[in-house]
Parts: sequence; C-alpha cells; structure tokens
Amino acid sequence: MSLQHIAFIMDGNGRWARKRNKPRVYGHLKGAYKIEEVVRWCALRGIRYTTFYAFSTENWKRPRTEVNFILGLLENKISEFYERMKKEKVRLIFSGRIKEIGDKIFNICKEYEEKTKNNDRIIVNMALNYGGRAEIIDAVRKIIKGKLENIDEENFKDFLYAPDIPDPDLIIRTSGEKRLSNFLLWQSAYSELYFTDVYWPDFSEEELDKAIEDYKKRKRRFGGIQ
Ligand code: IPE
Ligand code: IPE
Ligand code: MG
Repeated sequence: MSLQHIAFIMDGNGRWARKRNKPRVYGHLKGAYKIEEVVRWCALRGIRYTTFYAFSTENWKRPRTEVNFILGLLENKISEFYERMKKEKVRLIFSGRIKEIGDKIFNICKEYEEKTKNNDRIIVNMALNYGGRAEIIDAVRKIIKGKLENIDEENFKDFLYAPDIPDPDLIIRTSGEKRLSNFLLWQSAYSELYFTDVYWPDFSEEELDKAIEDYKKRKRRFGGIQ
C-alpha cells in the first residue's frame, strides 16, 4: 500500500520535561531536534512528504514565556535545519497564518521556501500558527476576494496553504492524546490515524516502523468496497 505522506502531531514535550523535573521548554528544545531525525528516517523509507505540527492557532493561549520560547526556537532552528539538510535536497514549506507570528519569522519562512523551492526529493511542511479551521476560512476568503465560482472539492484544495502536497496517508500523534486538535481538517478526511503513548522527544525509529507496520495492515476503502 502506498505511503507517500506522514503528518506528525508532535505532542508531549511538556510532559516529557516535567517527568524529568525540567521546565516545559526543555521538552520543546529536545522535541525540535527530533524533527530532523524523523525527516531522515522517513526519507530512508521512501516517504517523500512529511508534515509537522509545530504551533497551533490555539497555542497562543499558553503563557507568554512558553510561546516566546517556542517561536524563538523555530526562528533559530529553520536556518540550522536548512544547513544540515542542504545535501539531502529538502524542500521546506510553511503552512499557517505565518504573517501573524511576526515579520522576523515570516521573512525567515519566505527566505527558506524560496531557497529550497527547486528541491523535490524530500518535502517538509512545517505547520506554524496553523489551524485547520483557520486554513479553511483563509481559503474561503481567497475565493470570495477573487469572486470565484464553480468551486468543487478538487479546486477548493488549490486555496489551501500547501495545495501541491497530497493528503496525508497517515497521521501519527504522540503522547497518548487521541484527537486531531485542529490539524489538517480538510486533508485528513481519509487519513489513517495512529496514536502512541510515547512523548514526542522519545519518538524513535522503532516507533515509526511500528506505525508504518500498523498502517500497512489497514484496508483503505475510501467509501468503496474491497
Ligand atoms: C507539543 O508538546 C508541542 C506544542 C504544542 C508546541 P506540548 O507542549 O503540548 O506538551 P504537553 O502536551 O503539554 O505534554
Ligand atoms: C497540538 O498539541 C498542537 C501541536 C502539536 C502543535 P496541543 O498540546 O496543543 O493539543 P491539545 O491542547 O492537547 O489538544
Ligand atoms: Mg500537548
């Protein structure tokens, strides 16, 4: 069964840190390192697209210090990730209300999208200030602004943040929570869901393989019969 896109809900950074009597932000730091590893493991398995839920439109509700830490981490990690992954020809795409985060991050995101736009071997989609509902609303706004008619399911997709990325085949959420938390609401219509109790900083290659094995056993019917 084909598996070209895995989307990750990177959850449990805070609990991972608390368990070690460390501040929550330490978990975010550890979690950020995990992204590069996971991209490499996926690439080795022939998975061309990965999406990472890094910051949701609801995460602004957190204490300002934690929000600032996460955003600061993103700011620094993007260039670092690019430098370390340059050789692998990774294309970086950012999905979400990026402009609302602030000019600095917005400019960094644009810079690295531009720098990597001709890479097509591995495509990494970072969901920042992302909300599935916000994405649908933003698409509707674009459609209204353009006075467009004849919208159907196929062309509606063109107004989403990353229209060229196929819907995720598999969504993996760490930390034991069993919900989507506003992630890829449109695109997840027929995604297979996999939940593991492991906290994101502890996510491993073995865990990834377990999820893939589980996925392979599933029967995707898309409403048909098989
Ligand atoms: C996920 O870890 C990272 C973000 C939401 C930014 P959490 O920070 O949600 O960690 P827990 O769920 O509180 O343990
Ligand atoms: C989802 O995790 C968002 C990200 C992983 C970025 P949360 O920790 O914010 O989700 P809830 O609040 O438990 O649903
Ligand atoms: Mg959480």
